[in-house]
Amino acid sequence: MWPQTAITGLLNIKHPIIQAPMILQKPLAPLAITVSNAGGLGSLGCAEMTIEEVEKAVTTLRKNTDGPFNLNFFLHKEPGYNEQINRQMLEHLMPFYKKIGFTGIPDSRTSPLNVFNDEMLSLLLDLSPPVVSFHFGVPQPHVVKSLKQVGCFLMATATTVNEAKILDQAGIDAIIAQGWEAGGHRGSFETNYEEVGIGTLSLVPQVVDAVRVPVIAAGGIGDGRGIAAAFALGASGVSMGTAFLTCLETPITDQHRGALLNAKDEDTQLSRAFSGRPCRGKKNPYSETMINLHQPFTDFPTMYNFSGPLKKYGIDNNDLEYQFLLYGQSASLNRELNATALIEVLAEEALAIMRP
Ligand SMILES: Cc1cc2nc3c(=O)[nH]c(=O)nc-3n(C[C@H](O)[C@H](O)[C@H](O)COP(=O)(O)O)c2cc1C
Repeated sequence: MWPQTAITGLLNIKHPIIQAPMILQKPLAPLAITVSNAGGLGSLGCAEMTIEEVEKAVTTLRKNTDGPFNLNFFLHKEPGYNEQINRQMLEHLMPFYKKIGFTGIPDSRTSPLNVFNDEMLSLLLDLSPPVVSFHFGVPQPHVVKSLKQVGCFLMATATTVNEAKILDQAGIDAIIAQGWEAGGHRGSFETNYEEVGIGTLSLVPQVVDAVRVPVIAAGGIGDGRGIAAAFALGASGVSMGTAFLTCLETPITDQHRGALLNAKDEDTQLSRAFSGRPCRGKKNPYSETMINLHQPFTDFPTMYNFSGPLKKYGIDNNDLEYQFLLYGQSASLNRELNATALIEVLAEEALAIMRP
């Protein structure tokens, strides 16, 4: 039995295990469906989706699971345009472009990702998904109010106590405390990641003490030991991304799967080189060069346009040197199982430790 404080009742799930929303090459609906059917909370990263794609995904989810699910959105601002920064960025990228034979000029005017807007909000109000979560910021008051009115449970990411307090004040129902170890983008919105990188072990209990709502621990939780530790720190649930990447349902490339199954603790690095925002993934010569660039990057998400030709080359040519393989610091704990088996084994491992 999970402790009384577990988020299971609030989310209407059997196990307080959230499959973290993840943007990958292909949509994650099959993984989210399996997780929700197995008693966890399946999540879909919707930041790259159009209104029509979100609508279609929700139809698919509802057709295939009676369990709750989470739709996740980025709260980034419209990117700025800075000619000088973009020119400097191009200069740094030229040697890499030369190596792969790319002779084009990336589009620095068009953002590759839409911002979360009232049109998307209006769709969500029609669909009323059970859970909506946000990364990179605080939803506006009318967003919080209207989503709650149609019965959505709201979650958002904090990477410091200050950010957690801001989300709590804004009416968010559960705070995802994301530690430094986490794979993918840091959800920071009030801090500079170069100066502030708080690990999950430090962050979770301090956030638990600072806010009124349940706290979900995220970052570096790779097996039942991590889940039990998160509960010992006062968390009400966990959000795990990296651990689900090697599930059989997860549509990652063979190279990504191979890297995960051979991962080591020292593999990863946080860098703005991929998107313009700090993001954790496997080090490669590109990220290692760019991490030493002590100057502003092209804004998120326009930076995707600059790194895009390298990523495309890496995927098309099976070349790990240019791919962005996102994962966290605990990837070496990953297991290649179907998601039902993974949820069961995670719950068993954690409960075996937590049992009095
Ligand atoms: C490949 C990948 C993509 C991610 N994409 C998103 C995303 O779209 N939205 C989001 O809120 N978090 C995203 N994250 C972060 C996760 O929500 C979560 O914080 C993280 O996976 C937890 O750390 P772990 O990877 O060590 O389990 C992503 C993580 C990974 C590994």
